[in-house]
Amino acid sequence: MIINSLTQQLDEEMDQLSLQRASVLVASHYGHPPLAFVHSFGCQQNVSDGERLKGLLAEMGFGFTDEQERADLILFNTCAVRESAEDRVFGNVGALKNLKRADPDRIIVLCGCMMQQPQVAERIKKSFPYVDIVFGTGAIHRLPVFLAQRLESRKRVFWNQPAQNVVEGIPAVRDEGVKAWLTIMQGCNNFCTYCIVPHVRGREVSRTPDRIEAEARELIGLGYREITLLGQNVNSYGKGLEEPCDFPALLRRLDGIDGEYRLRFMTSHPRDCTRELIDTIAGSRHVCHHIHLPVQSGSDRVVKAMNRHYDIAHYLELIAYARQRMPDVTFSSDIIVGFPGETREEFLETLALIRKVRYNALFTFIYSRRSGTPAATMPDPVPAAEKSVWFRELLEVQQQICTELNEEMVGTVQRVLFDSVGKSGDGFLAGRTEGNIIVEAPGDRSLIGKFLPVRITRAMNWAMVGTIQQ
Ligand code: SAH
Ligand code: SF4
Ligand code: F3S
Repeated sequence: MIINSLTQQLDEEMDQLSLQRASVLVASHYGHPPLAFVHSFGCQQNVSDGERLKGLLAEMGFGFTDEQERADLILFNTCAVRESAEDRVFGNVGALKNLKRADPDRIIVLCGCMMQQPQVAERIKKSFPYVDIVFGTGAIHRLPVFLAQRLESRKRVFWNQPAQNVVEGIPAVRDEGVKAWLTIMQGCNNFCTYCIVPHVRGREVSRTPDRIEAEARELIGLGYREITLLGQNVNSYGKGLEEPCDFPALLRRLDGIDGEYRLRFMTSHPRDCTRELIDTIAGSRHVCHHIHLPVQSGSDRVVKAMNRHYDIAHYLELIAYARQRMPDVTFSSDIIVGFPGETREEFLETLALIRKVRYNALFTFIYSRRSGTPAATMPDPVPAAEKSVWFRELLEVQQQICTELNEEMVGTVQRVLFDSVGKSGDGFLAGRTEGNIIVEAPGDRSLIGKFLPVRITRAMNWAMVGTIQQ
């Protein structure tokens, strides 16, 4: 513990110095106020990291642009969760070649989960010579050091040490708006057999409740109305903290902050989801009655092979208990279709489960082989075309369930937090219910950021439609 906090302190001091050094180098390298283009692929945790990377760039004198052509520095914060995510990144990086040729002073930075894998960093080194700086998830706070190295020596920088610590004190540049992300822990200890995340994000480390509460208070003070607490498995929050605090205790502490705001959290692992957590949500003032509780599969054999450490009976008990405590609770989930060795019968068990639970939203994925994970070496006899057929069946069943749930909502009054202009255009607002369902209603922009009662009148494909009750 002491060693950890010492290391952390040293890191912070070093970063203050390197920030100053990098700022001077940046100013002389570009000779004009530079602009950065920053894009985070993948999950909210990556988006949250991207906000910190932007914070560091801002400290070094960068402004921001949405146009790569205008950017003096282009940074991609990458995701490795599925092959399609990696392909997308490689495609985007390939497209930068001409931009670098047009302006060799432009700096290209790749970081995040994908870059934490040695074989990927190696491929970038060999095949993409115009990429300047590459580092993984464990080194976000070192961006100023890397940039200074690159500008001083003109050598390309490659860094891939394992993630060690939660480094505090990095500023964040968040998008203005109504909703904010708040990372409460890093890493994952679960090692689900299909998943690359623990391999690229390291072991679980929790931030202290004091730091989290201070950041939540700051966000509420800045006018954010919805805070989503982030971690790969928030239910196991608190391991290794000097001052004991588990996730329900953290939620109660944050719920005690006065003000008009709501709290959400993700992701909950069913293995560590307890009745105490459900009771805490039910008894809170600010925590939304919505639980994202990924089940992955409806088959006991498959969830066991996935190393998920629960069975479907336990999962259904949790759902039933939550519904008993909160009749208005909604659920969403992640499903993987075509895990190695999954049979047609086992897939049908997944369909039966989603019919039973009736999720409001489902995030569905076809299994993607990740090298280095145990599932990558399991026999996988079902052809890709067959898996696609199952996948479409799953979507159809879920679509039917959503249609039914939407119809049941018509006529009800929901408390909606409006966060943006609606897809239907100017004069329409979009927001979400406590249950995380998108609602559009006619209304003026001045109502963005307000919690308002909305009577639901009908359903569209992507949202419910309603009218604001005065
Ligand atoms: N920590 C979270 C989610 C992390 S990744 C959790 O445990 O739920 C988000 C989702 O991506 C996972 O829930 C899973 O459904 C999916 N996923 C992860 N690895 C995958 C793989 N190799 N192939 C397909 N989907 C995958
Ligand atoms: Fe991956 Fe499982 Fe950890 Fe989620 S809990 S990040 S699915 S290993
Ligand atoms: Fe992707 Fe890393 Fe998140 S692999 S899903 S960005 S933790």
